[in-house]
Amino acid sequence: MQIARSLLAAAALAAASCSHAQEPAAVSSADSGKSVRPDALAAFETVKGVLQSPRCVNCHPAGDQPLQGDDSHVHLQFVQRGPEGRGVAGLHCATCHGKANPPPSYGEHMPPGVASEWKLPPPEHRMVFAGVSSHDLCEQLKDTKQNGGKDGPALFHHMSEDAITLWGWNPGYGRKPVQVPHDEFVRAFKTWQDAGSPCAPARTASNP
Ligand code: HEC
Ligand code: HEC
Repeated sequence: MQIARSLLAAAALAAASCSHAQEPAAVSSADSGKSVRPDALAAFETVKGVLQSPRCVNCHPAGDQPLQGDDSHVHLQFVQRGPEGRGVAGLHCATCHGKANPPPSYGEHMPPGVASEWKLPPPEHRMVFAGVSSHDLCEQLKDTKQNGGKDGPALFHHMSEDAITLWGWNPGYGRKPVQVPHDEFVRAFKTWQDAGSPCAPARTASNP
């Protein structure tokens, strides 16, 4: 059990509000240096905060329509996931979403783009991030049947290097990037993985 002080107020709050008998709330360590790492469950709360930020949730919705904006409203134009996540015939994502964000001179509300391909996860593994508990998100993330067959290293690569994930930190003019810095997110993800990818207990009143 690593006793550590969370770097993030949010992570500290999340940890403190959990009532896992075996997990004491994050406490200050003797080391008052600013690089004390959060423990694995607190680190996962940081990861969760990113996955459930609008930039990520909008492509990882509970339903079969992508979402838009910081309020994650249902995508206009009746856009649907479609059989491969690319939209339905006649209204593919690529009709509007290109290989890069349009330049700032185009103004706000332009369709963002990414070098790999702008699409939703396919219906076979929908990777729902919206509205799921810490426990469920955690179990889903490391289940290769639900994550597109990604083992630990592949998942780490996806978080640290894949264009579609990095887009969250460079989302195009007028859109807020993910609030947690990318290197901090990657560090938290690694802390969680290095500790064996532990998950918080299933949903309880104090662990929503
Ligand atoms: C444009 C839509 C889009 C956005 C935005 C997006 N994702 Fe994804 N995400 C996908 C797709 C598509 C897959 C499935 C990739 C695959 O299986 O090839 C995926 C899969 C994943 C997976 C599961 C691993 C996998 O490859 O199946 C994780 C974890 C993930 N995304 C995290 C994130 C995070 C974190 C963000 C925000 C920073 C984010 N995603 C933003 C489309 C998106
Ligand atoms: C008819 C054109 C069109 C099609 C087709 C389309 N989009 Fe969009 N999309 C847009 C526009 C325009 C925006 C920008 C809206 C804004 O910023 O207010 C957008 C924004 C988004 C966003 C929001 C990004 C954010 O975080 O705010 C996501 C996610 C998204 N689209 C996913 C998809 C996916 C996935 C598909 C295919 C299944 C798709 N879109 C098909 C036009 C389209």
